[in-house]
Amino acid sequence: MMPHGKLSKLPTHLAIIMDGNGRWAKARMLQRIIGHQRGVETVKKVVEECSNLGIRYLTLFAFSAENWFRPKTEVKALMLLLKHYIIAETRRMVEDNIRFQIIGNRSELPVDVLHYLDEASRLTAGNSGMILTLALSYGARQEIAAASKRIAVEVAAGRLSPEEITEESFARYLDTTNLPDPDFLIRTSGEMRISNFLLWQLAYTELYFTEKNWPDFDRDELIKALVHFQSRERRFGKTSDQVKGRV
Ligand code: IPE
Ligand code: IPE
Ligand code: MG
Repeated sequence: MMPHGKLSKLPTHLAIIMDGNGRWAKARMLQRIIGHQRGVETVKKVVEECSNLGIRYLTLFAFSAENWFRPKTEVKALMLLLKHYIIAETRRMVEDNIRFQIIGNRSELPVDVLHYLDEASRLTAGNSGMILTLALSYGARQEIAAASKRIAVEVAAGRLSPEEITEESFARYLDTTNLPDPDFLIRTSGEMRISNFLLWQLAYTELYFTEKNWPDFDRDELIKALVHFQSRERRFGKTSDQVKGRV
């Protein structure tokens, strides 16, 4: 196990694209769903570890708007897994002071699954610890289009003037309205793309890719990624000297 000592600067908001469950299973001649089951175990460990480390916001990409187009049996199995996960974990989130919420197109989620997700959100709403956000049926382009539509309605009704549309006000119409932009994004499984995740919010996020498939991602891998984050210089368009306060 790697020590925590090196972790002087944690990301305030950590986002993760949990990828590679299917390939993990295939490499072991197992069905994809077994990979998803193992992936849930990783979720539990990573949530606990991030909460213990003191990360304020953890956002996990669990199911994309495009994932609905996977084979029906896989989609059904994923929804069932999600339901079992949330039923089993709600109490622990209450006890661990974790506040749970979802982002994405909730109207597409099965009503029974949504019921337990909302229950978890309600029961943890008063918690003051880490905010755990699950992105479900989530697509960033859809989110941005939906935000634009809501803004257009406000303008048409005369409640908002076009001049009032700024970066800051626009962001308030996104699903992530109560979250700061992610500081660090981890994607597992070696794929180096964003896959329609948080397109607006990732503008200045540090990106990190690991070859490990999500079921093989563990505490040591998380610490390794977070140690790597320490060495990143975030310039936000400025020069290195400016950032270091030399000018
Ligand atoms: C991530 O693993 C989980 C979801 C997208 C739901 P995948 O299912 O995408 O696994 P691979 O990428 O096919 O290996
Ligand atoms: C992205 O993974 C979505 C989630 C991790 C939930 P995918 O496996 O769906 O992404 P692509 O299709 O490889 O880009
Ligand atoms: Mg994948």
